[in-house]
Amino acid sequence: MSLAERRVLLGVSGGIAAYKSCELVRRLREGGAEVRVVMTEAATHFVSPTTFQALSGQSVRVSLWDAQAEAAMGHIELARWAERILVAPASAGLLARLAQGMADDLLTTLCLASPAPLFLAPAMNQQMWAHPAVQANVSTLRQRGTQLLGPAAGAQACGDIGSGRMLEAHELRDALLASFAVGALAGLNVLVSAGPTYEDIDPVRFIGNRSSGRMGFAVAQAAAEAGARVTLVAGPVSLPTPPGVMQRTDVRSAAQMHAAVLAAAAQADIYIAAAAVGDYRPLEVSAQKLKKQGGSGLLLQLGENPDILASLSAQERHPFLVGFAAETHDVAGYAQDKLQRKGLDMIAANRVGEGLGFEAADNALSLYWAGGAVELPRAGKTALARQLITHVAERYRAGRA
Ligand code: CTP
Repeated sequence: MSLAERRVLLGVSGGIAAYKSCELVRRLREGGAEVRVVMTEAATHFVSPTTFQALSGQSVRVSLWDAQAEAAMGHIELARWAERILVAPASAGLLARLAQGMADDLLTTLCLASPAPLFLAPAMNQQMWAHPAVQANVSTLRQRGTQLLGPAAGAQACGDIGSGRMLEAHELRDALLASFAVGALAGLNVLVSAGPTYEDIDPVRFIGNRSSGRMGFAVAQAAAEAGARVTLVAGPVSLPTPPGVMQRTDVRSAAQMHAAVLAAAAQADIYIAAAAVGDYRPLEVSAQKLKKQGGSGLLLQLGENPDILASLSAQERHPFLVGFAAETHDVAGYAQDKLQRKGLDMIAANRVGEGLGFEAADNALSLYWAGGAVELPRAGKTALARQLITHVAERYRAGRA
């Protein structure tokens, strides 16, 4: 996979992270891409167009009203030239203008005028990123198929710590690279569920589990890298959306996850159920905080949650179903039993405990399907997720052949 002769239009909007985009131009060009930079007026207050001109080897455009530049390559021509548009950094203001469909400067005009897939790498103060207005714009853009890359969490230029940092140059380059890949899952819609579920007892207490969501998020990322359009349904986790994931729905309880998965499953070719769904929920959720019972103990009555996978496999038309099974013992026996009982196409089983599984960075999986099995030995969750995706793609294609 390479960026050789790929035509990337890099939009730079006004934010301090613009300095990282200089490095990004270098990385893209090292990969063989042709890069043309378009800056907003605000961006020029952070980095000079001359810097981008020197790095890209092309003249940099800022204004829609630059007669000389228009004569050399008109903006519509530039919009058609681009195979990908990446805006990095994408400021809160730019997200708002794009969400509104405004064409009030060259960059926003190009975003509207180009058929190329649009990638945005937001960068802003964590308070701004968390603002409901910004999140509403992000969700509008995502719904239109715009791909959001990041932001990451960490220390910010303003001294704050939180979510809003622009992804690093190499991460953005990798996301673009992946978008050009004709991957094993190219053209397929993949739905992934990840993380735990929380079942409320009262306004402050809940029944949860120790799933971190990292395996499921790694699976979502690996599926996106393999060319799939990925929808992620996430339980309560504090993880950023992996690069390339098209849509994310956050849920809390098993019932909410059930509804979100069922709604998305109609469009999915493959559903990978990596979430640790709570099997039971309190039958009554107290509207007020429960008080101590004065020594008499507390009896919670639990009801069973619907099994999401089983309810999908019961449908006449359903996606290729991949389940997960976390077991402490007799992994093979329990996993194969679940494969049959839930009507799955494949199951990925892991042993929990001994530094593996839920809260660990590493994992190991045993995959089973009707008539076959393969062991994926202990590795980091990202590497393991990529191997899992390779096998899922193989089984999916074998099933359709
Ligand atoms: N799962 C689901 N809906 C549920 C519970 C689980 O879709 N209500 C999915 C999980 O996402 C996972 C698989 O089923 O992919 C296995 O979950 P697990 O809880 O281990 O299976 P159970 O059938 O509940 O078996 P156990 O007896 O081990 O609890």
